[in-house]
Amino acid sequence: MLVIGLMSGTSYDGIDAAAAELRLAGDTLRLKPLGMVSEPYDPGLRDLLAGALPPAAVPLADVCRLDTRIGQAFAATAARADAELCGGAAELIASHGQTVYHWVDGDRVHGTLQLGQPAWIAEATGLPVVADFRPRDVAAGGQGAPLVSLVDLLWLRGRPGTPVALNIGGIANLTAPDGTAFDTGPGCALVDAAAREFSGGRLAYDADGALAARGRVHGPLLERLSADPYYARPAPKTTGKELFHPGYLRATAAQPMAGLSAEDTLATLTELTARTIADAVRSVVATEVIASGGGTRNPALMRALAAALPGVPVRVSDDLGLPSAAKEAYAFAVLGFLTLHGLAGTDPASTGARHPSILGSLTPGRDGLRLPARPEQTPVRLELE
Ligand SMILES: Nc1ncnc2c1ncn2[C@@H]1O[C@H](COP(=O)(O)OP(=O)(O)O)[C@@H](O)[C@H]1O
Ligand SMILES: [Mg+2]
Repeated sequence: MLVIGLMSGTSYDGIDAAAAELRLAGDTLRLKPLGMVSEPYDPGLRDLLAGALPPAAVPLADVCRLDTRIGQAFAATAARADAELCGGAAELIASHGQTVYHWVDGDRVHGTLQLGQPAWIAEATGLPVVADFRPRDVAAGGQGAPLVSLVDLLWLRGRPGTPVALNIGGIANLTAPDGTAFDTGPGCALVDAAAREFSGGRLAYDADGALAARGRVHGPLLERLSADPYYARPAPKTTGKELFHPGYLRATAAQPMAGLSAEDTLATLTELTARTIADAVRSVVATEVIASGGGTRNPALMRALAAALPGVPVRVSDDLGLPSAAKEAYAFAVLGFLTLHGLAGTDPASTGARHPSILGSLTPGRDGLRLPARPEQTPVRLELE
């Protein structure tokens, strides 16, 4: 089955679409990556989104506009991916949508909201769409995240040692082979926020880690930020831009930050990000890290991470055949495929839910909705072709 996975993470930089040919063979799910396309949000939509994210209060009219325009943007990217990667033969779209709010209270998640109305995607492509993956796990008592963990577990099963899958998006999350999975804290979120602030909005991120590489880590600022109680909280736990938003730095670290250069601030935030990820990796006694996400393209961050993890090799998922920029989009293609086949997309050990859940809501395509029979065997591993 040809499936397109659509993803936009908490960095809301744009939409990633990955196409995969997926096939069940006994207890193995085979994935042939067909490639990816990425489409940045147009600046107007990005500004509307940026202005709507926590802690902003947003009129429902804007929520409606966002749901519609994000849906249309996802639809355009899906149609392009179908034409360019699948020759117009895609059969299913799996859309994560854009998270705008993850309602966390202490160690409980009460709700989670992803926008990007799937009707637009079904209309533009004619294909059935699986969307709204997270709420079902929340309804089952889980965190609704990290959802890529099941795919990571299937994918890394059988690899020797304790390989840990790490995705560095706006928020960073990891999955260990025993199913332990959680958000470690900021991935690119704080680095991006500081780059944008110091450049007066000109830089969306610290390109190639250039600013951080020229700066020096500021001890008191690092100490102040490291004291956030989120890092010490036990898993399962998830976070988002509700906590690590641009105002977070001003609110928690104004004093040590005063008068600091862009370079030193970026060096410090890069070090904080690397250390909190490394602490999380050590807490699950990892023997290797398989990293993915846009953060892997920041050499200053990857150097700091390697330095904070002596003896634990840090690889990128590309080395194992899964392009790191597209990994989450591929993971959602897999989750959509599982849903269509009536198979669960979560491991309760990862999300903290009471039970595994078949995820998402289905929007019929132009020809309605034909559900394949539930396979006799539940896949226990994912193999790349
Ligand atoms: N060349 C680069 N140099 C430094 N950072 C980069 C580079 N390319 C991407 N990034 C980082 O990756 C982030 C986007 O990563 P992504 O995996 O798309 O996150 P998300 O899933 O949250 O959207 C950017 O905000 C930026 O911080
Ligand atoms: Mg992104």
